[in-house]
Amino acid sequence: MTTIAVKDAWKAQAQITEATYREWYDRSVSDPDGFWREHGRRLDWIKPYSAVKNTSFEPGAVSIRWFEDGTLNLSANCLDRHLETRGDQTAIVWEGDDPSQSRRITYRELHADVCRMANVLKDLGVAKGDRVSIYLPMIPEAAVAMLACARIGAVHSVVFGGFSPDALGGRMEDSTSRVLVTADEGLRAGRRVPLKANADKAVGIAARAGHTVEKVLVVRRTGAEVAMEPGRDHWWHEARESVAADCPPVEMGAEDPLFILYTSGSTGKPKGVLHTTGGYLVWASMTHQYVFDYREGEVFWCTADVGWVTGHSYTVYGPLANGATTLMFEGVPNYPDAGRMWQVIDKHRVNIFYTAPTAIRALMGAGDEFVTRSSRQSIRLLGSVGEPINPEAWNWYYTVVGEERCAIVDTWWQTETGGILISPLPGAVALKPGSATKPFFGVRPELVDAEGRVLDGAADGNLCIADSWPGQMRTVFGDHERFEQTYFSTYPGKYFTGDGARRDADGYWWITGRVDDVINVSGHRMGTAEVESALVSHPKVSEAAVVGYPHDVKGQGIYCYVTLMEGETATDELRKELVAHVRNEIGPIASPDKIQWAPGLPKTRSGKIMRRILRKIAEDEFGALGDTSTLADPGVVDELIENRQNRR
Ligand code: PRX
Repeated sequence: MTTIAVKDAWKAQAQITEATYREWYDRSVSDPDGFWREHGRRLDWIKPYSAVKNTSFEPGAVSIRWFEDGTLNLSANCLDRHLETRGDQTAIVWEGDDPSQSRRITYRELHADVCRMANVLKDLGVAKGDRVSIYLPMIPEAAVAMLACARIGAVHSVVFGGFSPDALGGRMEDSTSRVLVTADEGLRAGRRVPLKANADKAVGIAARAGHTVEKVLVVRRTGAEVAMEPGRDHWWHEARESVAADCPPVEMGAEDPLFILYTSGSTGKPKGVLHTTGGYLVWASMTHQYVFDYREGEVFWCTADVGWVTGHSYTVYGPLANGATTLMFEGVPNYPDAGRMWQVIDKHRVNIFYTAPTAIRALMGAGDEFVTRSSRQSIRLLGSVGEPINPEAWNWYYTVVGEERCAIVDTWWQTETGGILISPLPGAVALKPGSATKPFFGVRPELVDAEGRVLDGAADGNLCIADSWPGQMRTVFGDHERFEQTYFSTYPGKYFTGDGARRDADGYWWITGRVDDVINVSGHRMGTAEVESALVSHPKVSEAAVVGYPHDVKGQGIYCYVTLMEGETATDELRKELVAHVRNEIGPIASPDKIQWAPGLPKTRSGKIMRRILRKIAEDEFGALGDTSTLADPGVVDELIENRQNRR
């Protein structure tokens, strides 16, 4: 395997050199209290903390608190503290779906807008601790709404604009959000997304479940005619006219909740991952500064939607806390054509570009001309996130996009971790294509085998983290027991990530993918159980089992085995109907890639579906089915192998 040594140019101005990385890392794990006492000061605290780390991973007593007696306001850290030094610098560059549309918003303007939205939210009855759901496209108002919540101490729950009314309704109900911020419509690749109409349905769905959404604030994006319910719905462009452009930031405890973000696990409904204020912002800003080696005045572009954690930490909070110019892109990588990303980089002189392997693979497939016709000279650093990046895509990104000038930081992390945990620091760590390389300061990754024994040296195993870091999630909203159960019960005393990994002889980390029933489709995380429950909610489906299978562009595709109700006939029409049904229930990102009709599913005698076998059949690896002797009816497997031609 090739290793790419740290180039002189990457080292030349790097904030963290190899020696600093070693020194800081050693100190961060041998004296976490001292290390974080020092680095927590990167934020502006209203009342400085005296306590630093107070955490326990002990079964039955999991508790995570950082800087707990300090107080601060997150929006003041992202806005007010920059006004004097860089009030007129661009905070957000917005690039529209339509290449002729863009906007630049200075820190001063962003501050005023956030204050206005905070005042409007207060007028709508939002107080400290209340949850506010946000269902917006990638427009500056999404960042404004998040920061406005933080300003008044409200807890935001951003729901990706591609999710269905059902998904939004369920999340508003779970978080008991009484206020929703949405838009008339979204715009993606020239197509309109009916956000307000979806929101109306979602409010209805929540109401039927017994939860009332009292107010809906609507941002005008496309100007489409939408239904407005008097008393409940308010236009943002009207409401903002009648409030002050100043709103004092509320003093928040470091451990006061900042946001909830729903994410999929191996079982049950999506969980509300809860992050708090102080530790989260220390982590987002510090990783943004050192992983990307961010330098004053640079333009940073993270392509993630704010509906995902990457958008929270690296489109909004990390860059703004560091006074960067952050680029927000409303569109998609291949519209109007596959050269869009590179054209945007040239247009806005982007210095750091951070995207997902699925986008890299798709653009690689479109041909090099789309890249080479752009200049890309402004680019200094490239990043990757969301799923394992295959060496072929890595090499293309490195040679064609970066012309071997730019380091690539392959960053491994999760919604739960708040920010990057394993990644190269570009001036300090030699790169190996496909490896996330080394842990960030304070992160103690460990490999354990199925019995929970810690593995030393070069090994393959389950990836755990041995101790807490400031950006870690604090609980599952409303269900601390589920938090303990999900992350701390498999290997007691450790945080279990759900990922498999390998550590090579040089101590480099290679993430091999999920070891649980979570699949990663185009960098979007999905519980197979969610897709199964969407399928069985269709009246013609009796049973369904969903697994991931290797997909050239998406990383993993969604493979569904479906058993129909007695008397129903398997037709192509029904197949289409089921795909549409799942899209409707969850959203287009959950569209099944393949459906195979399955007269029966392989089950143990106790009735548990043997997914291991289904995964093998989906991957066409019949030779390696393993032990099938515990199956209630081994004949089912032969039938599925024979019938696999009917997958589509
Ligand atoms: O399996 C890992 C994969 O994405 C999962 C986390 O998904 P999510 O919470 O949606 O957050 C995505 C963005 C941080 C992980 O458990 N993953 C994320 N980054 C990488 C990765 N797998 C391999 N390499 C990565 N760089």
